[in-house]
Amino acid sequence: FDAVDVIRTKRDGGAVPEDALRWMIDAYTRGYVADSQMAAFAMAVLLNGMERDEVRVMTDAMIASGERMSFASLGKPTVDKHSTGGVGDKITLPLAPLVASFGVAVPQLSGRGLGHTGGTLDKLEAIPGWRAALSNDEMFAQLADVGAVICAAGSGLAPADKKLYALRDVTGTVEAIPLIASSIMSKKIAEGTDSLVLDVKFGSGAFMRDVDRARELARAMVALGTDSGVATTALLTDMNTPLGLAIGNANEVRESVEVLAGGGPADIVELTLALAREMLALAGQPEADVEAALRDGRAMDTWRAMIRAQDGDPDAALPSPNETHTVTATDAGFVTRLEALPFGIAAWRLGAGRARAQDPVLHAAGIDLHVKPGDVVVPGQPLFTLLGQDASRFDRALDAVAGAWEIGSDAPERTPLVLERIT
Ligand code: URA
Repeated sequence: FDAVDVIRTKRDGGAVPEDALRWMIDAYTRGYVADSQMAAFAMAVLLNGMERDEVRVMTDAMIASGERMSFASLGKPTVDKHSTGGVGDKITLPLAPLVASFGVAVPQLSGRGLGHTGGTLDKLEAIPGWRAALSNDEMFAQLADVGAVICAAGSGLAPADKKLYALRDVTGTVEAIPLIASSIMSKKIAEGTDSLVLDVKFGSGAFMRDVDRARELARAMVALGTDSGVATTALLTDMNTPLGLAIGNANEVRESVEVLAGGGPADIVELTLALAREMLALAGQPEADVEAALRDGRAMDTWRAMIRAQDGDPDAALPSPNETHTVTATDAGFVTRLEALPFGIAAWRLGAGRARAQDPVLHAAGIDLHVKPGDVVVPGQPLFTLLGQDASRFDRALDAVAGAWEIGSDAPERTPLVLERIT
């Protein structure tokens, strides 16, 4: 095969034959196809798209570039959740132990945050002692014993995707739906889960702002999972406003523990329950009473066992900020808008997120919201509090959120958090 032929085929809007596409991915991973050629190919895909079968072959080739795990010997169904990322999205933390408390195994391979979206591992690392890196044997043992594991994906899963994603990042080709779908799904299928629920977000704080593009991505990923024998469904969910009241790391753990204790903000509870029902339905328990497991402490027991199994202390005090700054309302009325992206950027500037993959995060940094859209406020009432290590970052965080919230005289229209279910 010749990389130039493959590029020309896609440039001219054709479908790349299966053997040529498999060769292209394999040769790129091994270094025989140059970055420049793969970049040209990725751009051709962005401009001309791919057929469903091409996306399947591409995903399969990326899976074949690395190891494929299997949990078949566990003797229980496995189910995973993937979120396309958002602001204040800590749902994995209460969700994994909640679902596992029904005897299902939840192998939740997670990542770190980059830019304004937080990472599940960064949040959990706010817990003293907690360890993200597990060997495959440790992961297996924990799934058998506790049922839930949230850990770092090993470097052996879909190495072709690692290389291609880094290339897309610097060539303006991240936004191609076939490439996003194959990137996400290659890692999830290689992980070896029986079933998968996707939380595909749209709106200000989402990777796909536009709901139609988010729906298209969700459909592409559901098709890929289904074609690969992984039972897959997706929920399209609103990311115009941060999820819950905490944006950061330690504060998001605190909020997750509130949910596990039967409390927590209504939107977090709603999404956790909706995703748990989807996951348990795929795992053969469509009638599971997920609310009861939050109420009666079963989910909390599994959380504590899960944290302990990874050397964390579930009772330890979480890091707290040295400095805080609270912004208050100047007018009376309804909070009509509180936009996810600027608040995500502000939390990031406070040190809750990172600019480069190798940077550390400040676990105590972030933002605590005190109100959400629809709430009524009076002048002087606290709207949100910046949490930081030092006050020097507050000005840039405040710049980020300037104009990001609004108080008006009319109640905002209520929009559903879960917009659609895609199967
Ligand atoms: N997340 C991924 O893992 N891959 C993409 O291409 C986009 C988001």
